[in-house]
Amino acid sequence: EAYRLIDKLEREHSLSLLEYKTLIEAENDALRLYAANKAKEQATLIYGNSVYVRGLIEVGNYCRNDCFYCGIRKSNLNCDRYILAEEDILHCCKEGYELGFRTFVLQGGEGIYKKDFVTNVVQKIRSEYPDCAITLSLGEEDRDTFKAWFDAGANRYLLRHETASKNHYAKLHPKNMSFDHRMQCLKDLKEIGYQVGCGFMIGSPYQTSETLAMDLKFIETFKPDMCGIGPFISQKDTPFKDMTCGTLNQTLFLLSLIRLIQPNILLPATTALGTIDPQGREKGILAGANVVMPNLSPVSVRKKYALYDNKICTGEESAECKDCLSRRMDSIGYKIVTDRGDIKK
Ligand code: SAM
Ligand code: FES
Repeated sequence: EAYRLIDKLEREHSLSLLEYKTLIEAENDALRLYAANKAKEQATLIYGNSVYVRGLIEVGNYCRNDCFYCGIRKSNLNCDRYILAEEDILHCCKEGYELGFRTFVLQGGEGIYKKDFVTNVVQKIRSEYPDCAITLSLGEEDRDTFKAWFDAGANRYLLRHETASKNHYAKLHPKNMSFDHRMQCLKDLKEIGYQVGCGFMIGSPYQTSETLAMDLKFIETFKPDMCGIGPFISQKDTPFKDMTCGTLNQTLFLLSLIRLIQPNILLPATTALGTIDPQGREKGILAGANVVMPNLSPVSVRKKYALYDNKICTGEESAECKDCLSRRMDSIGYKIVTDRGDIKK
């Protein structure tokens, strides 16, 4: 039955909520391998053995939000806060460009910069590196702000939906955070013309096979250009510090299912996946992922961007991090490419 559902998903790119739930509950070693092989085949048909790289710049860890799972939540007084200045960000881009990155991802806590600051930085990166894609991941804003940043030259926006269940969302966030607003942001971003990435954690507290099925249905219907998924990893200073972490295997299985839902999707093997398993990112690529995001942040701030415990890549220079990932991809027969890495339609 489960195998038949994988075949159906491969063929039709759509299943019912109940079918998704059945699949998620049926996961085992053999089924996971079956899904991974089909997912890898789909990815290879479209992207060959190329893996796209994004230079991740963690621009700051101040945040206005208080998500229960996140190490940079505003109530965490143990978080050593920093914020990069414009010249720091531009310096990271310069270093990244020389290393062959053609996508820069500016990610940080929500509400850390004023609207005009971001507009300015984006304009500068856009004029300095016309051949690069600029991705923002700075949380929820109003539509005008998203539009101003887009007009300044940003191309992509990553905003994980976190969970497609409103009920589940309320268990992961304080009352002042709104599921509806986050979903509205995703719609606005798409309408404005961004390439949009949504995503969620695997094994987040109170997640069930039903909420995961809803996540898959959401991806199927929203049709994002990108989807960021990685295991939930507890962070010692958060309310969820004692909660069980997500697993490697479930993350790999979900990567494969998402590839089968939308064969051309941009799907990163995330740092969180590399954190729960030393070969996590390689295994992610072999399960259908096609993007990696080496860290380009200044080494002096890396440890401070601690969303979860034991995060990898916090001591390495950008060049080391890129070389490390290149070697890792080579070892499984893939190669990192110097390319903007847009979605293939
Ligand atoms: N502030 C922006 C936002 O809200 O989209 C971008 C930064 S936010 C820290 C990036 C992502 O980190 C979140 O969407 C969340 O899924 C992930 N994250 C936060 N805490 C995590 C944890 N403990 N384990 C794994 N992933 C986590
Ligand atoms: Fe960053 Fe290996 S990928 S150090």
